[in-house]
Amino acid sequence: MAGWTVKRLLDWTRDYLAQKGASSPRREAEELLAHLLDTRRLDLYLDLQRPLTREELERFKALVKRRTRGEPIQYITGRQGFWKHEFLVKPGVLIPRPESEILVQAVLEGLKGREAPIILDVGTGTGCLIVSILADLPGARGIALDIDPGALALTRINASRIKVAERLHLVQGDLLGPFKRESFDAIVSNPPYIAAEEWDTLPGEVRLHEPQKALQGGEKGLYYISRLVAHGWEYLKPGGLIVIEMGWKQKEKVKVLFKGKPYTDIGFLTDLGGRNRAVKARRV
Ligand SMILES: C[S@@+](CC[C@H](N)C(=O)[O-])C[C@H]1O[C@@H](n2cnc3c(N)ncnc32)[C@H](O)[C@@H]1O
Repeated sequence: MAGWTVKRLLDWTRDYLAQKGASSPRREAEELLAHLLDTRRLDLYLDLQRPLTREELERFKALVKRRTRGEPIQYITGRQGFWKHEFLVKPGVLIPRPESEILVQAVLEGLKGREAPIILDVGTGTGCLIVSILADLPGARGIALDIDPGALALTRINASRIKVAERLHLVQGDLLGPFKRESFDAIVSNPPYIAAEEWDTLPGEVRLHEPQKALQGGEKGLYYISRLVAHGWEYLKPGGLIVIEMGWKQKEKVKVLFKGKPYTDIGFLTDLGGRNRAVKARRV
């Protein structure tokens, strides 16, 4: 094991992860080593000849092993970037996805001109949506709701790291349950929306490591979305905004859910690949 430097270890890990089928082996090698050495990826390049101790090598080997067994790198490093911030993540809580950033953008745009808005995030997970929104809207207050106390504990930590904790209230509960009518200027949600029949088609990295209860939305995937559409308006102030993430093939079915409900300005948001990833509407 003699003679292992940062450079040699990065090169070796890149090749090893590539052999094991990683799609970005260099980046992953950097992330794992930066995590081990408690530094930033770019800072590794400031001291490429730094030798690794035997103990560091042992710990690194364990990290690489977890990764080659398919564990998401974010659960190994405990971090994921989202919108403008870094969020802490942990097994049992869904890892924030870049495509969910369009929800943040839609809420920020949709709330322009509203003074001191109050926003509810249903199924907050790491808190990535509501924490990002509050950080960009200093006059806003938020409620983060989740059924899972482990998710709420993580949201609390992220809110405090990103300095919005005083404006964020955490609630454990089932969907829209515990609130008064007409409370919110906006409701944002990335609910579970994978259909039960699709579960087996998900990549192993997701299916075997991320929480099923955070992803699966009933037999057809629409269980939570339909409840949010059916009752969300009751909790919105007049003119209030609802933005819900959905599966990219669910547009037609989601459109139907809005029929006969007091919503207006219904529109779909697309990701960079042009796929429908979220729906937004206003309460009449
Ligand atoms: C797809 S994850 C979204 C997490 C986070 N908002 C994000 O975008 O990364 C769905 C979240 O909804 C929560 N959840 C599932 N069923 C729920 C329910 N009945 N009421 C409230 N939250 C629920 C899960 O615990 C999970 O954190």
